[in-house]
Amino acid sequence: MKHSTQLLLSAFASLYLASCSPEKSPPVTPSRTPVPPVKTTANTAYRTPATSGAAMRNPDVNMPSNFDKAGGISFSRVAAPGPYIAITFDDGPHASNTPRLLDILRARNVKATFYVIGRSVDMYPGIVRRTVAEGHEIGNHSYTHTKLSGLSNDRVISEMRKTEDAIFNASGVRPRTMRPPYGALTQSQRQMVHQTFGYPTILWDVDPLDWKRPGSSVVTSRILSGTKNGSIILVHDLHGSSVDAMPETLDGLLRKGFRFVTVSQLLAMAGTAQASAGSPAAGGLHGTGD
Ligand code: NI
Repeated sequence: MKHSTQLLLSAFASLYLASCSPEKSPPVTPSRTPVPPVKTTANTAYRTPATSGAAMRNPDVNMPSNFDKAGGISFSRVAAPGPYIAITFDDGPHASNTPRLLDILRARNVKATFYVIGRSVDMYPGIVRRTVAEGHEIGNHSYTHTKLSGLSNDRVISEMRKTEDAIFNASGVRPRTMRPPYGALTQSQRQMVHQTFGYPTILWDVDPLDWKRPGSSVVTSRILSGTKNGSIILVHDLHGSSVDAMPETLDGLLRKGFRFVTVSQLLAMAGTAQASAGSPAAGGLHGTGD
């Protein structure tokens, strides 16, 4: 039964891959690099692996993540008191791209936030477990990656709850923030989701449109030029080409003096966190790639 369920989920995943962006996605190709085994030995202390070549390292930041007093229910950027930023990865977990990204992040001590699709969490719970074990934050990105703004409250709640349960079953932690697919959630839905789950709606202010596959160097330069203190950066670990861009991107941001924190930490560090109206900066293109 488990096997046939997985086959069914794989079929759903293929459908999803075809519909995630308005453009046609090329067929999914197998990973070019073998997926590293996930170590599960409880007594083995975690060590950052050596990297080939120099990799800058995000400093350890002992930041609180309690954002209850931050106020506001929608954020696309935060008024941070320093060069703090949150990089977010949407639409995973992916069988090979997400583990590859986790290696890249680990080598630089960068903590990120992953807005995962519940259906994919049920397919790859071990990857979510590893993500949490390595200090990253998990956010709720719906169960089926559907456009929530046209759905009834009951269906929105169902999408959120099934995903929260999938994340909890996989990792033992519950998400604390959500990001609507395509950035699409009405103001009253945002209030309803906040009341029901306690989630603020997290959008973004830096969007390299990586899902259009503009090439790694373009993704990198768009992120480097667009990132400011308190930025929330949108990337998709579903796409191998987006992960390809991350070593240069992360190194470039570190070189510019930015410090990576999770979304909850970013919200918490600003007592005067600004709740934005929540619409992604320019609408249009920005709303389609999430
Ligand atoms: Ni998405």
